Order: sequence, then structure tokens, then C-alpha cells
Amino acid sequence: MDTYHDLISQTFDFPTVDFTVQDNELRFHDIPLMDIVKEHGTPLRLTYLPKISSQIQRAKTWFADAIKKTDYQGTYTYCYCTKSSHFSFVLEEALKNDIHIETSSGFDIHIVRELYRRGKLNKQSYIIANGFKRERYQRHLTELINEGFVNCMPILDNLAEIEYYLDHVTEKCNIGMRLASDEEPRFQFYTSRLGIRYADALPLYEQKIKEDPRFQLTMLHYFINTGIKDTSYYWSELSRFVHKYCELRRVCPTLTTIDIGGGLPIQTSIQPEYDYQYMVEEILRTIKRICAEEGVPEPHIFTEFGIFTVGESGATIYSILDEKLQSDKELWYMIDGSFITNLPDTWALNQRFIMLALNGWEKSYKKIQLGGLTCDSQDYYNAEKHIYQVFLPERKPTDAKPLYVGFFHTGAYQESLSGYGGLKHCLIPAPKHVILDRDADGTLHNWVFADEQDSDSMMRILGYQQ
Ligand SMILES: Cc1ncc(COP(=O)(O)O)c(C=O)c1O
Repeated sequence: MDTYHDLISQTFDFPTVDFTVQDNELRFHDIPLMDIVKEHGTPLRLTYLPKISSQIQRAKTWFADAIKKTDYQGTYTYCYCTKSSHFSFVLEEALKNDIHIETSSGFDIHIVRELYRRGKLNKQSYIIANGFKRERYQRHLTELINEGFVNCMPILDNLAEIEYYLDHVTEKCNIGMRLASDEEPRFQFYTSRLGIRYADALPLYEQKIKEDPRFQLTMLHYFINTGIKDTSYYWSELSRFVHKYCELRRVCPTLTTIDIGGGLPIQTSIQPEYDYQYMVEEILRTIKRICAEEGVPEPHIFTEFGIFTVGESGATIYSILDEKLQSDKELWYMIDGSFITNLPDTWALNQRFIMLALNGWEKSYKKIQLGGLTCDSQDYYNAEKHIYQVFLPERKPTDAKPLYVGFFHTGAYQESLSGYGGLKHCLIPAPKHVILDRDADGTLHNWVFADEQDSDSMMRILGYQQ
């Protein structure tokens, strides 16, 4: 009989550094997940904090090595894009690594102030403020700038935004401009709605920024929706952006920096798919080559990686409640949660995550589909990254233990998209959320960030309770 363990080790190079099996049970970063499940039950949301720091350190090392190898003349600065996960424990962990942040909302600035109060950010920290801004966001940024947060940098997203700062900023202020990228050819729009048209950048600088002694245009910013990928689209947009930097740099000596956005991918399959070091080196080589052609100094580089920072720290664990054979060929394993509400990217974007059984690796396996608890027919998961099928160990009603399944690298965006602790489809509650961390000596400990959402919280929102 082929076991589930055989299937996984024959399909992938398994075990990996992050995933191993001991006594037929899965370990994630050497954490015996069944012990965690025994302690906390399911459905369960996990955040493994050390992975956040290690990801940041990996990226910093790739850039440091690439700078050395290519003799790149600029510096590299790592920012964390808060929208991928705003939780305090995520930001506190990320900020242990001498990094800065990128914001997207006026409410982010309340987080900035609290992190400043806790001593996690200081007045020199870069706050790269992106987004199309309502008055509230512009006001909060202006207050920071006027209070001496010297690296709080509004990134102009449209032509009118500068007017607010011209009217209200009293101190020296670094300004950035976001350029509107062209979308990928098969996208529904030609040019992104985010940012300023390429043709408007120079006139905006000359008419509104150049002569005002308070403002310096310091940074040019862009973001590519598809992320950093080795495609002709990515390289042509990067080149276009760097050429624009060179054009502006010639007339604007304060323009020293480019921000190449987020989009560094994470692993969504057990098999490594991405050559990070190569991509980082190629980015630097491209910028260097264009700057040399144009006779312009190589810019400092900022990135604002969201998913890369926090994605791989997350896991979501369900137990299989029961199975339903709905036709001769379609066997459903019903989970005690929902894809639509807990992992909305799987439903909205067809995002795949690493999916593995937590137990039962000694059993034979079965082709199944996973069904969520909402009544929506779209609440299912039936394909992996590498294959249009899903396999899990066989289960029997007489089994002493339920079967558990884990989705891994789910740490970014899922709560940002589905909301947290509010009302969800079919009143599916937010799962219990447990944080895993290690002491300096490596000892694992965990604490409950939030219990499973209760009925009172929903009844209050719905107006049935005070
Ligand atoms: C301006 C900007 N920067 C950074 C990011 C982070 O992207 P990622 O999470 O893919 O790194 C986003 C995501 O939407 C973004 O809009």
C-alpha cells in the first residue's frame, strides 16, 4: 500500500527545512503541530513569529550580496508594507530587524504613533505613505512631518495631493511620487489607476515642488501588480521606470532614491520555485546599466515587501468533521471552517497554499475535495499548485483521532480581505489565533492572541445586544 507519506515524498523533495514528519505527524519549523492542536483545538490560526525576522534577514542578505557582487553604488532599505498584516505582534517582530514601514491609510498613522510610543519607531524611521489619500490621511501625515518625523514621506498619488501639504506643512519635507505602471498585457486596463502618469511627473515637480524651499522630491516609486517575476513585462516596466528616474534626476538633484514596491513572492508549493538571489542581482544590474547609459548616479533602493515579510509565518488548521460522497467520484472532506471567510484569497484569486495533513501519514491516501461550512457553492478547495487534484489520508468514522489538515504560508492579507472578528458568510466565526515564538535558547512557547470569536460579538454588531 502506498501511504500518504509515500505520496508526498515521491511528489516533492520531502522533507524540507520547514516541513518534516515524525511518528507520522507533521512538524512545521520543528513544531509538533499535533501538540498545538491538542492544546488549542481547531479551527486554528497560527503565527510563527521567528519566520518574520528570518524572511527580512534573508532579503537583506540577498540585497547586500548583490550590491557587493555588482558593485552597486546605492544603499538598500527594507520597508514592511503594513496592509499585508496590521497586527501588533507582526509589526513588533518585523521592527526588531532595523526596518521601516510603508502605509496605505490614515488609520495606519495611529499604528505609527503607538509604535513610536512603544519605542519601536523613531522620528528618523521612514514612513513611506502610499495611497490615494482622504483629508484625514493627509492631515495625520502633515502632523507627523510638523512634529519632526523627518522621514515621513508622502508619496504623491495624484496631481492634487501636493496642494494639501503646500497649505499645511511647516517643516522640511521629503516627497515621493508614485508613477502609474502599465498593467500586464492581459489585464483589463492599460495603465494602473494608482499613481501619476509618466508624462505628468516632470511638470508636477517643476510647477509645485522645485521652487518651494520646504519640499524636496527625494523618491520615485512604482509598484507592479504581478509582483517581481522574471518576465519580459517585469523587466520592461522596471526599465521604463528607471529611465524616468534618470530623466527626473537630471533636473532634480535631490532625487536620490527609487522604491521598487512589493511583490517578492513566497513559496506556495513545497517545491522551491523562485531564485531570489538571481532576481535581486538582475534588478540591480538593470538599474546600474540604465544609469550608466544615461550618465546618472545609481539610486538608493527601497522595497516594501508585504507578503514576503509575513506570508510564510502563517498557518491555518482545520479538522475534517466528516465526509460526504456526493457522486461516485466526488468525495468531500468537510472542514470546520471556511475557505471564503478564513482564506479568502483561495476563493477570490484562486490562490493556492501549501496544504498538508497533520496526522495519518502512515495511512493510504485518497483524492478528495475540501468543503467549507458556508452554504456558498464556491466554498471549496480542490486543486494544488502543481496538480488539479487534492489528496489527503484516508479516514474512517471509527478512527480514534480526527484527521487534521493544515494550510501553510497563509500569513498575509487573509484578515485584511475578509475582515477580522466581524460578520462573515453564514456567521462563520474568526478562528482562535495562537502566536508561536522561540526564546533566545530556541525553546518554543505559545500564547493565545484571540479565542474563537463568540456569539456575543456578532449579536452586538447585529444590534441584538448592547
Ligand atoms: C504600493 C504597494 N506597496 C507594496 C505592496 C505589497 O505587495 P506584496 O504584499 O506583494 O509584497 C502593495 C500591495 O498591494 C502595494 O500596493
